[in-house]
Amino acid sequence: MTETFDGVDTKQRIRDMWASVAPGWEAYADANDDRGAALTDRILDGTGVQAGHRVLELASGPGGTGLAAAERVGAGGEVVITDAVEEMSAIAGRRAAQLGLGNVRTGVADIESIDQPDASFDVVLCREGLMFAVDPTRGASEIARLLRLGGRAGVAVWGAREDNPWLGLLLDVVVAHLGMTLPPPGTPGPFSLSEPDQLEAALRGGGLAEVTVESVAVPYGPESLDHWWARTCACAGPIAGLIEALPGDAQTELRARATEAVAAFTTDGEVRFPGRALVAFGTRA
Ligand SMILES: C[S@@+](CC[C@H](N)C(=O)[O-])C[C@H]1O[C@@H](n2cnc3c(N)ncnc32)[C@H](O)[C@@H]1O
Repeated sequence: MTETFDGVDTKQRIRDMWASVAPGWEAYADANDDRGAALTDRILDGTGVQAGHRVLELASGPGGTGLAAAERVGAGGEVVITDAVEEMSAIAGRRAAQLGLGNVRTGVADIESIDQPDASFDVVLCREGLMFAVDPTRGASEIARLLRLGGRAGVAVWGAREDNPWLGLLLDVVVAHLGMTLPPPGTPGPFSLSEPDQLEAALRGGGLAEVTVESVAVPYGPESLDHWWARTCACAGPIAGLIEALPGDAQTELRARATEAVAAFTTDGEVRFPGRALVAFGTRA
């Protein structure tokens, strides 16, 4: 069992939090994949996913990265899509079935302890997930263990909070409004690995070699501020439940504050947020 906070196992609390936003991730799965398309392409290209490969996706959410990999590995390959939360990997399973992908399996796996044999994958992928591990270095050591010699890992995490105002400013507003610390003490948050050195150290510390980290622009242009608010509230794991639990007038006030905070990114009703991610690669040597 991991450390407890308010008497609840940290890992269980994190899983419960993600399970609560799984319906939001299902509703916005395509939209989130569209926004993350540049990252997905970069991860698949940088890891060299190709026909016949066995690929593992970690912290998959609705599995957009693994589903894209399944197209590349073809009928002779296989993609195993996993998340710590069954409600999330089940979405990936439904999406694979809708796409008619027969080379996809789904399952439940915590990044830090994965029930798969050593050296059983050519490639391991993780888009926007490793920063939520309580111990990312341990997660990286699991990735290294699962890769065959020469196998490649591709990991994307959010860059600095100030480079991602679509989420960073919302967190700031919620913190100011509720007078609380976010994420709660002892809980990893979306910007936990936002320094390139931290990400590199986690991957190297886990035993991966030839580690590189690059910065990738991920701009986000929602249809409107209404869309941004609805989507972010539905998917932003650490805050979705907090906002939902507020009485209606407090939600309205919070939303007004958030709208004011992001006004600088709106011109003539068009919303254009900058965004930045870090993409890291490593090899099992
Ligand atoms: C921000 S979402 C990203 C989902 C997906 N990878 C994407 O890019 O659309 C983070 C995901 O990480 C999962 N997650 C959080 N902690 C995890 C852990 N320790 N092991 C595996 N998955 C985890 C959550 O359940 C959630 O689905």
